[in-house]
Amino acid sequence: MNETLERWSTRRAFILAVTGAAVGLGNIWRFPYITGENGGAVFLLLYMAFVLLLGLPMMMAEILIGRAGRRSPMQSLGYLAGQAGASRHWRWLGLFGAFTVFCILSFYSVVSGWSIEFLVAAVNGDFVGRSATEIGADFDAFLADPGRMTFNHTLFLMMTMLVVAAGVAKGLERLNNLLMPLLYLLLLVLAGYAATTDGFAPALAWLFLPDLAAVTPLVMLQAMGHAFFTLAVGACALMAYGAYMPEHQSLSRAVVAVAVLDVTVALLAGIAIFSVVFAQGLDPGEGPGLMFVTLPVAFADLPGGPLWLSLFFLLLLLATWTSSINLAEPMVAILQGWGLRRKAAAAVVGVVVWALGMLSVLSFSSLAESRVLFGMNPFELVSSIPPEVFLPLGGLLIAIFAAWVMPEETSRRALDAGPNGFRVWRALVRWVSIPLTLIVLLAGLI
Ligand code: PFF
Repeated sequence: MNETLERWSTRRAFILAVTGAAVGLGNIWRFPYITGENGGAVFLLLYMAFVLLLGLPMMMAEILIGRAGRRSPMQSLGYLAGQAGASRHWRWLGLFGAFTVFCILSFYSVVSGWSIEFLVAAVNGDFVGRSATEIGADFDAFLADPGRMTFNHTLFLMMTMLVVAAGVAKGLERLNNLLMPLLYLLLLVLAGYAATTDGFAPALAWLFLPDLAAVTPLVMLQAMGHAFFTLAVGACALMAYGAYMPEHQSLSRAVVAVAVLDVTVALLAGIAIFSVVFAQGLDPGEGPGLMFVTLPVAFADLPGGPLWLSLFFLLLLLATWTSSINLAEPMVAILQGWGLRRKAAAAVVGVVVWALGMLSVLSFSSLAESRVLFGMNPFELVSSIPPEVFLPLGGLLIAIFAAWVMPEETSRRALDAGPNGFRVWRALVRWVSIPLTLIVLLAGLI
């Protein structure tokens, strides 16, 4: 396959696209609830350390491979391996990434579908005056209704694949340029609102005062997995975006900007959500239902509740939309590389992900008690193993490829950070990111 000619039209478009990929369920839904389950500030501290030491350098590694290869992830890896005189088997790493994004997108689309359902309910004021027990029961009833779950999952996936089918400049770029600024605006409004509630101070204390006794290998593994998940690293999805990067743009600066923007969203969302939770005396360790049960309960009898709640779900929906188009892109790019037209490739990916997603839909009703692997049902499986194990493993291999296998000159040019910047980056990847990922992976899995 020849080089792709598609490009983000500006540097800003590239940064917005990668930020759109990074900011999603991970920041607004997953970060608050796993932080809640894992003791608050300790988790936050670990996650920030992993973002700095692993996420950032590995994100650069992943994008630079795409930029240097200018092909789909699988073909870029094969092409660059050939150039370096290394085994062409490296291209299978691209397929492993595609498998990972398939798994992630399948559950991602289902949970994002919940935000459509809840946005509509919040706008209708359905939660007003209802008790916590009633709201909890409504959520359980929704989960147990495969019809409604399927409808929302299908709708969300169609929204995603339509944008992807429209192409890089007309689809992906336009959506990101439109939604990302809106998302930040919404988040600032919500955080501003949170600062006026009684729960603001307890929320800050919960998020920023660590209890170091809570650190265990499993908490570390989860924090590491989350760093990869939130930055969208390890699945070759950013590699696909890197292939469309403009010629003259500093990758390292762009990546640092994205990481800062991403962590800011998680923190603001965390502060906003926990303020409301604490203001109402609710439990921060509620789990995956945190956003879907606790928040509606918290807002049920607050003045302006339906408005604020609608804004939260709108925020979630916009954020997940720009991430899911990134999740779909590598597979579409690979199929295009195999000769399919973009629209056909998007349709094929959409259908396969939809079918896989149905297993997650049914995991809340007929398949709830099924134990597919490790005692987990399909939803539990795809929402934990790919983010916590496949992403770090993929990131590890990507980093090894970029820092040890690729010809030095090629990676230096693609990183575009000057000779010193390149040396610092490579030393960090070789001697910190790779060993640390390996240690945490092994410690967490044993
Ligand atoms: N970063 C996204 C989030 O935080 O929701 C999830 C994600 C997107 C993970 C793309 C992996 C990926 F390749």
